[in-house]
This record gives sequence, C-alpha cells and structure tokens, in this order.
Amino acid sequence: MKKRVAILISGRGSNMGALVAAAKAPDYPAAIVAIIANKADAGGLDTARNEGIPAFAIPHRDYASKRDHEIAISAALKAAGAEIVCLAGYMRIMSPEFVGEWEGRMLNIHPSLLPLFKGLHTHEQALEAGVRVHGCTVHFVTAGMDEGPIIAQTAIRVDVDDTAETLAQRVLSVEHATYAEALALVASGKARMQGGRTIFAT
Ligand code: GRF
Repeated sequence: MKKRVAILISGRGSNMGALVAAAKAPDYPAAIVAIIANKADAGGLDTARNEGIPAFAIPHRDYASKRDHEIAISAALKAAGAEIVCLAGYMRIMSPEFVGEWEGRMLNIHPSLLPLFKGLHTHEQALEAGVRVHGCTVHFVTAGMDEGPIIAQTAIRVDVDDTAETLAQRVLSVEHATYAEALALVASGKARMQGGRTIFAT
C-alpha cells in the first residue's frame, strides 16, 4: 500500500512538483493526496491542480492565531487521510503541538548541508563562511528549527565564481531528487525516526 502524503507549500513549489513527478512511478511507495498552501497566491497550487491533485490555500492571515491556523491545517490533513506530511518551501514555523502531532511523519527540505547554515539565506551564509561544498538536506521535523534527524543529503561543489543566485540554482537542481529519495525511504519504512535519530533498515 502506498503511503498517503500531503505537501505544504508557500510559494513556487518546485520541490512539490518533483515529489508529484516521482510519485507517478508505479513502484514509488507514496501517493500525493493533497497540496496545501498558507498563501492563496502560491504558484505551486496551479502546478498541483494541473496535475489533478487536490490543492487549496488555508491562508494564515484568515486566522486569529498561529494555533488556530494549525488546527485548520490539521483538520485538512486528516480529511485528506494524510499519513506523511512533506514541507516544501513552507515558510511558517510550527508550534511544538503541531510538530508533536506529526512526529516521525513530517519531513522538510533545507537548502544547506545541515547542521551548517540553518534558517534563511543559506547560500549567502555558505559564501560568507567560504565553504567549498554546499548542498541540501531532507530531515524529520522536530521542535528545533532545521534540527531534526537527517534522512538524505546531496553535496555540490562551490565554484570560485559562484554567487548566491548561481548556488541557489545548482542546489535546487539537486534538491528535487534528494527529496524524492528521502520520501521513498520513509514511505517504504526503510528510514524512520526513533529516539531522536534516523534509523535505516539494512
Ligand atoms: C527550497 O530551496 C527549499 O529547500 C527551501 O525553500 C525552497 C522552496 O523552493 N525550504 P520550491 O518552492 O520547492 O521551489
């Protein structure tokens, strides 16, 4: 049985598109059942609708508090029968309650080789630090931002003439396959979170 996956986005949704594309393979262990955005104008919503996947906005601005917004998201996830949640460029920090509800079942992609360069502007941070390799990380979501156990990473070289923009582009191009691989590991049960670590089935 394929695991039912919902994806939360805030913007263009290229990682979401990559997961949707990967999930078309008959042997992929996950099916994408819903796309939810916290902004009505998130470009990814159109991409998802064109693919025939239920896609809708639950704008945080419509709710009095962060918790009320999360309760609405939770209800939508339950209604979709989601078993796993993938954050893909979802720009909201979640409460410990929400994170706890999805512990071990919520993934995020971050554009750096964690634990380096948490937060925003990761490509600028990498250039500033002078690292010669950079990349992306897919991890389980825990209460600490960008701190959860790592599921998959891909590294790229930093070229001498790289700018934050060229780095962002090259990292994004490896994010897509990395996310698809990480979701497959979790959906198939080959990677799971236990005791604050990722356990891989061998
Ligand atoms: C990606 O770089 C992702 O790593 C970060 O936000 C960006 C989202 O891009 N969390 P997209 O919406 O998936 O195209």
